[in-house]
Formats: sequence, C-alpha cells, structure tokens
Amino acid sequence: MTQIGGVQLWGLGVTLQLILAAALHQGLATVAPTTVPTTAAPHKDPGRPDRGDYEVKSSNGTVCLRASMGLQLNVTFSSLSQNKTVQGVLNLQPNKTRTSGSCDPDSASLRLITDADKTSLNFSFTLNTTSNKYHLSEVSLSADWPDMKDAVLAHNNSLDYLRGSLGFSYMCREEQTLKVTQNFSINTFQVQLQPFGLSGNQFGAAEECQLDEDDMLIPIIVGAALAGLVLIVLFAYLIGRKRSHAGYQTI
Ligand SMILES: *[C@@H]1O[C@H](CO)[C@@H](O)[C@H](O)[C@H]1NC(C)=O
Ligand SMILES: *[C@@H]1O[C@H](CO)[C@@H](O)[C@H](O)[C@H]1NC(C)=O
Ligand SMILES: *[C@@H]1O[C@H](CO)[C@@H](O)[C@H](O)[C@H]1NC(C)=O
Repeated sequence: MTQIGGVQLWGLGVTLQLILAAALHQGLATVAPTTVPTTAAPHKDPGRPDRGDYEVKSSNGTVCLRASMGLQLNVTFSSLSQNKTVQGVLNLQPNKTRTSGSCDPDSASLRLITDADKTSLNFSFTLNTTSNKYHLSEVSLSADWPDMKDAVLAHNNSLDYLRGSLGFSYMCREEQTLKVTQNFSINTFQVQLQPFGLSGNQFGAAEECQLDEDDMLIPIIVGAALAGLVLIVLFAYLIGRKRSHAGYQTI
C-alpha cells in the first residue's frame, strides 16, 4: 500500500517536473534574443549595438543629463544602388559619436552626431513641473548615408516614451522600439537615462520599465514552482520513510 502511495506521489512529481521543464523552456524561448529576418535589405541585420555612455554638462560643469544605452536606427529610404525603397539599419558606434545638448529647468536635449555615417540624432525630454514626471517628447534625425538618394529628415514632437520621475533614472534592459515616424524608428538596448535632477553627476535610483518587470515574473513563477516541487518530494520521502520504519518495527 505504501509503495503504491509512493509511486503515485512520484508520478505527481514527474508530472510537475514536466510542467516545470515546459515553463522553463517557454521562459528561455522568450528571453532568447530574437533575430529579425532581413528581406532584401542592403544593410544586413548589424547585430546588437554597443552601449554608449552619453553626458550633457551644464554651464557650471556638472552633468545635467546622462544616458547609457545601445541605439539602432531603422530608416526607410530610397536606395541609389537598388533604385527602390529599402530599410536600412544602422548601429550607433559610441566611440565615433560626438555628444552635445542642453539642460533647462523643464526641458533637456541630447544630440548625437556621427560624422562617419553623416547622421545627427536629437532627443528632447520634457519635465512636467506639476507632476514631477519626465518623458521623451521629441526626436529628430537627419541622415545622409552613402546609398541614400536624398538625405532623410524625420521629426516628431508629440512623442511620449521613456517616462520617469524627477530624481529617478529610467531603466529598461529589454529591447524597445521607439517609433518616431512612418519611416524612422529607434531600437534601444540596455537603457538607463536621466534627463533631470541628477545628484553629483550620478544616476538616481532606477525605475524599471514594464517590459523588464514582466520579464522578471518568469523566474519568480519558475522559482515558486520549484519550491513547491521540492516540498512535495520531501513530504513524499518523509511519509515513505515513516511507513517503512513502522514496517520494520512490526516484523
Ligand atoms: C525596421 O522597420 C521595419 C518597418 O518599419 C520593420 O519591418 C523591420 O523589422 C525593422 N527592422 C529592425 C531591425 O528593427
Ligand atoms: C502635468 O501633469 C499634470 C498632473 O498629472 C497634468 O494635469 C498636466 O496636464 C500635465 N501638463 C502637461 C503640460 O502635460
Ligand atoms: C508622432 O508620434 C505620434 C505618437 O507616436 C504619432 O501618433 C504621430 O503619427 C507621429 N507623427 C508623425 C509625423 O509621424
């Protein structure tokens, strides 16, 4: 009888293990980097961009805007070599990028220029002084890549991305796509930034983006399932031991 009970409990354990394995597999599948298939693009998928560390200083020399992030530009343009509209993907190379910008009480901007790629990218952040929340409100791009028939200019001043609270930094480890216009979007990687209220040139405490929080749920669920499984196995073992002990004593 005890053996049958033990087998049933072990059977339950194995089922749980299978569920767990499935959950883990699911988790890994969603965490694994997704490679974007490029169809007839002149610029092939350039891989993950390097993470750059960009700073803007105010007139008194203190850092007033700080951003660490990897940036990938996705631009639709008409190609000289292919004589049609194509998608070009360019990784910003931090060591070839010049930084400038400005900081005002309720607005701040970061300009990134790479001469080699004839690309100029400008981010503007706005602080709402009532709610003490900031966000990325405006992005503009000018790009004149070798294969472009005409230089591309893109601009949008009604954006609402990268929202954070005054005194805190915005953080997002997961890749995000910021759609700026029909023809231009930015893929961001491993972002930490703060456009207002830095203390001593350093980032304030980080506010994690929703994507990251969702991602952290997977290990938490898996961990809880694992703990449950361990308890069940331990329980089954203890019951089994107690009964077999009892068996020995009666003999
Ligand atoms: C670039 O944008 C196009 C459409 O806007 C999209 O289909 C493509 O997947 C994007 N590529 C990358 C690498 O993000
Ligand atoms: C600033 O935040 C307040 C409170 O959330 C809101 O009512 C107001 O519309 C915001 N101002 C702007 C310019 O967005
Ligand atoms: C600017 O961004 C907003 C919000 O994402 C979008 O609704 C709007 O169409 C964009 N404007 C242009 C010119 O692409």
